[in-house]
Amino acid sequence: MSFTIIGTGAGLPKTIQTNQDLAQFLDTSNDWIVTRTGIEARHICVTESILDIALEASVNALENAKIKAQELDLIICPTLGGDTVTPSLACLIQDQLGATCPSFDLNAACSGFVYGLDVADAYFSRNNDMKILVIAVDAMSKLIDWQDRATAVLFGDGAGAAVLAGGNSLKAIQLTAVGNQHALSIPWPKGNHPLTKNRSKPEPYLLMDGPEVYRFAVAAICNDLRAVTKAAGIELADVDYIIPHQANLRIIEGAAKRLKIPLDKFVMRVNGCGNTSAASIPLVLDELNRNGQFKSGTRIALTAFGGGLTTGACVIEWA
Ligand code: UT7
Repeated sequence: MSFTIIGTGAGLPKTIQTNQDLAQFLDTSNDWIVTRTGIEARHICVTESILDIALEASVNALENAKIKAQELDLIICPTLGGDTVTPSLACLIQDQLGATCPSFDLNAACSGFVYGLDVADAYFSRNNDMKILVIAVDAMSKLIDWQDRATAVLFGDGAGAAVLAGGNSLKAIQLTAVGNQHALSIPWPKGNHPLTKNRSKPEPYLLMDGPEVYRFAVAAICNDLRAVTKAAGIELADVDYIIPHQANLRIIEGAAKRLKIPLDKFVMRVNGCGNTSAASIPLVLDELNRNGQFKSGTRIALTAFGGGLTTGACVIEWA
């Protein structure tokens, strides 16, 4: 026994920034961004806090699951960080929802939602009679240098949530990590201890070797999808929807070509939201769920990659 997904939710800040908006203050163009990434616009937290969008997704997911926050046994919040270092974002969500369960953040960057599902799965193996909220949220707009065109055009803010209950939907799951600071990192603010004040202090913004992450991502999607479908005892062709981490349309085109599967098996929504890090997969999951695209028996593969470097993939059969 593992879990089944009984509800999903999404939260997006209301301010939308288009590529044309970015070209007003960055040396870039709509044409470059669309051709290289498929991104047309992204949502940015301007008036909202990170907690606000996390709460919106969580409340939507609880309503969709038809359960009350007080029924939750655990809240897992995959995130690079909330509005405060402590309390954790998960604890603030718990408080605002009126839940009383243990709550913690989990940092696996863009693979966070799949990492969160794997942790939840372990809890269900201990006690199948639980309800777990996995609420993945990132506000990348607060972590990137808005003067760096190579990274600023890629990201957006968002939150996506799933409520899990005991069940048999998870057919296979796999996580990987290959520690690599060069490919992608966000330095921590260093503090101001007098003995350390003369040491070089990197700005706390995202640094990335885009082409290296790109090559890693294409290989990871191929390897992980092959591994989880094999573990689930199915062929890739048997999967109805592949929901990849929404980072770059070209990464998915590259993976589809290498796997020799039609591109339309991959659900791509990078155009409207950009890369929302941990939130990108559950945002798409929620859209498809609310559109009624999942029936009992629908097979969904999730495949994520990101900072760490981390990857995670799984096969879920909708119940
Ligand atoms: O969640 C995981 C997070 N990270 C990723 O998923 C990133 C994976 N990597 C990528 O998606 C791609 O590598 C990028 C989209 C980041 C970059 O695409 P690329 O085709 O690898 O471009 P590049 O970095 O090789 O740069 C090509 C050119 C360079 O100019 P020169 O040296 O050829 O004259 C860049 O300076 O494009 C230039 N460039 C831009 N031009 C206009 C880089 N960013 C921009 C920009 N607008 N925003």
